[in-house]
Amino acid sequence: MLTQKPKGTNDLFPPEVFLWEEIERKFREVCRRFGYQEIRTPIFEHTELFERGVGETTDIVEKEMYTFLDKAGRSITLRPEGTAAVIRAYVEAKKYADPGPAKYFYIGPMFRYDKPQAGRLRQFHQLGVEILGSDEPMVDAEVILMALEFYREIGLNDVELRLNSVGCPECRKSLREKLIEYFEERKDELCDLCKARLNRNPLRILDCKNESCQKIAQNAPTPLSELCPDCREHFTEVRKYLDLAQVKYVIDPFLVRGLDYYTKTAFEFVVPEIGAQSSIGGGGRYNGLIREIGGPDQPGIGFALGEERTILALKRKSEEIFVPVPDLFVCLLGEEAREYGFPLINELRRLNLWVETDYQGKSLKAQLKAANRLKAKAALIIGEEELKSGRFILRDLETGEQVELSRDELIKKYAKERGKDNA
Ligand code: HAM
Repeated sequence: MLTQKPKGTNDLFPPEVFLWEEIERKFREVCRRFGYQEIRTPIFEHTELFERGVGETTDIVEKEMYTFLDKAGRSITLRPEGTAAVIRAYVEAKKYADPGPAKYFYIGPMFRYDKPQAGRLRQFHQLGVEILGSDEPMVDAEVILMALEFYREIGLNDVELRLNSVGCPECRKSLREKLIEYFEERKDELCDLCKARLNRNPLRILDCKNESCQKIAQNAPTPLSELCPDCREHFTEVRKYLDLAQVKYVIDPFLVRGLDYYTKTAFEFVVPEIGAQSSIGGGGRYNGLIREIGGPDQPGIGFALGEERTILALKRKSEEIFVPVPDLFVCLLGEEAREYGFPLINELRRLNLWVETDYQGKSLKAQLKAANRLKAKAALIIGEEELKSGRFILRDLETGEQVELSRDELIKKYAKERGKDNA
């Protein structure tokens, strides 16, 4: 066990980690364009927050939370998702009093004690956003568009958008009754899980993956068929804005999200080819959640994208990962060269260069071999002779060309190049 990671977790090494960095960088960039700012909340919260926020009859709360008592006997839970925590922070800091809407994004690990498989982990990572304080349909459409812009930015152009409206508590009341009546008559054909869900959370039967349940659900009443006039109007408007931005989507009346807080718009991003865990992101509106968590009656909407699944979808296209390489490898030959080179390397690094060197006093041949193995762009050679003459050899490792430079010329050359890079 000592050298084994816990089930459902991953270690991340280079070069894979470069892909993660790139994805997170692009996510931040898209958030900046849409005016979202970062929020960082704790990785653990009081258990009650998720019980209330996510919903007591959800799989997450019933089966999947990492919950423990701390040393003072408080019940603590590792966050299974980000939304409830963001809202807790928003309410606690009374940010709702500021002129809104508030727009936050977050990146980080989430924890669910689920059965691990491809694309399903116990510690996974989400890129998420929440916008609090507006019920405008244009906001729904913009949030969806933003996720799609991010996917486009990272080269995922074929993500399918599935869209639904799950209505408000008003429409849900009559739907619930109708669903219970409908499924009660066909109870024998439901899977055990759905039998248990029937009276507690009948909506979830609609998206059960069991074949028999799916068959029965096909003719069941759906949230979409039971929308009240206000929710219907909202949904029409959301679609109008999506159409204006030429966003393609599939209306999926059976789309029921796994968290209880959703009202009105609900959506998922799907890449069917990556297997059973094909939902690479999802979100929706949650107009009752801020009040449920002790804040004012303000609406909200957001999404979270699974990083692991996003990467699975990307790798389906190409396994190639962009790997950064050192700008320069400084070969140091002898003690005097090391003493001379040590501060010089630091000066070069201040110019924003990635500079590698040899720490072990290897031969020139071995140092050049190391430089090539790292795919360094150039090598600088500092030996006894170079120190005497004050001229150093700079070899371009891609073309093999080399030039002789003084220390000053070397610094100037890189400063000039960097100046251009930064322009
Ligand atoms: P969610 O659908 O539970 O929504 O999770 C969002 C995404 O996280 C999923 O689409 C999936 O890509 C990823 N994900 C979930 N569970 C796992 C897992 N066990 N392993 C790997 N990836 C996983 C939420 O969490 C909501 N908080 C989203 C939201 C934000 N709604 C409104 N605002």
